[in-house]
Amino acid sequence: MSPFRLTRTLPEDATAAALRADVLHGLTCSPKTLPPKWFYDAHGSELFDKITELPEYYPTRAEREILAARATEIAAASGARTLVELGSGSSEKTRLLLDALPGLHTYVPVDVSESALAQAGHALIAECPGLNVHALVADFTAPLLLPRTPGPRLVAFLGGTIGNLLPAERVAFLASLRVLMAPNDVLLLGIDLVKDESVLVAAYDDAAGVTAEFNKNVLTVVNRELGADFDLAVFEHVALWDAEHEWIEMRLRSRTEQTVKIPALDLAVDFTAGEDLRTEISAKFRQAGVRAELEAAGFDLTQWFTSPGQLYGLALATPVRPPTARFPAEDRITTCVR
Ligand code: SAH
Ligand code: AVI
Repeated sequence: MSPFRLTRTLPEDATAAALRADVLHGLTCSPKTLPPKWFYDAHGSELFDKITELPEYYPTRAEREILAARATEIAAASGARTLVELGSGSSEKTRLLLDALPGLHTYVPVDVSESALAQAGHALIAECPGLNVHALVADFTAPLLLPRTPGPRLVAFLGGTIGNLLPAERVAFLASLRVLMAPNDVLLLGIDLVKDESVLVAAYDDAAGVTAEFNKNVLTVVNRELGADFDLAVFEHVALWDAEHEWIEMRLRSRTEQTVKIPALDLAVDFTAGEDLRTEISAKFRQAGVRAELEAAGFDLTQWFTSPGQLYGLALATPVRPPTARFPAEDRITTCVR
C-alpha cells in the first residue's frame, strides 16, 4: 500500500442527494433544523480550526492536555496496530497518539471533509515515516466500510463530536460502532463535561465572532450547492444552554419575516421574524451518563481521565457484550470484507 490513500466511500451524487434530502426535510419541519455535518466544506473546516484557537473555546486545549499526559497509557492499553479516527478534521491532537504508538501500521482518518483529510494526510506522511495513512471520506453516522488493516484497532472519536449527535442518534451510533469492533479493539471517546453555563455559552458565542461565521457557513453551503438565496446578514447567531437536555444549541434566528428560495428543491421557505433554525446541538455529559450509554451499547468503561478543573473527559472503553440498545439494521457500520 502506498503511504497515503484517500477513498471516497460515497459517489458525489449521493452526497448531493443527502444534502438535498436533509435541507428539504429540515426546512419544511417545525421547528426548522439542519444537521451539523453540512458546516464542514473547506471554509467551514478552516473556521472550525480557528475556533479551536479561541480563548473561549476550551475543549480542544483541555483534550490536548489529557492526551499529552495520558497518550502513553492509552497506547499501552490498546496495543493498536491500526488507529481509526472518526471526524478526524486536522488530526492535530492525534499526533500525540501517533507518537505514542510506535508499532502502528495504519492510520485511518474518517471525515466528511475531503479537504481536511487531504491536508492532514499529506502532512502526516511527511512527519511520520513508515506510517500508512488511508483516509476515508465518509459519514460516520451511515454504514461505514473500513479497510482491512492489522489489529488490534484503537477507534478514536475526539473533540466531543459525539455531543453533536441527538440522543437517539448516539444510541444507534454507539451500537453500530460496537458491532464494528473486534473483542481486542479499544474505543477512545472525547467527552465535553457539564459545567457553568457562562463558560459554555461563551465557548459557542465568542467575542471575535468566529463561531457566528462558522454557524452561518451552513447557509453559504446551501446557497452554493442548491442555488438558495439565504442572505447571511438577515440571520443572527444564537447560542443557548438547554439545562433540561444539558446541551448547547446553536441556532440562526431570522431578523425579519422573509422567504428564502431554494431552486434546486423547487422550494420557498417562509421565516417569521425571530424564527429560529437549529443548526447544532452540542451535548455535555457526566461520567455516570457516559458509563450508562457505553454499557447499553455493549462497552465497559475501563478508564476515565479528566482535565484540570474537570472541564473535559476522555473515556477508554472495551467491547464486551452485544449491544442491548436497539438500532435499525440499515444503520449498522460494517467491516469491509475485501
Ligand atoms: N476531531 C477533531 C475535529 C472535530 S470537528 C478535533 O477534535 O479537533 C468535527 C469533525 O467531524 C469535522 O472535521 C467534520 O468534518 C467531521 N464530521 C462532522 N460530522 C460528520 C459526519 N457525520 N461524518 C463524518 N465526519 C463528520
Ligand atoms: C465538532 N464539535 C465537537 C464542535 C462542538 O463544540 O460542538 C463544533 C462546534 N460548534 C461550535 N463550535 C464548535
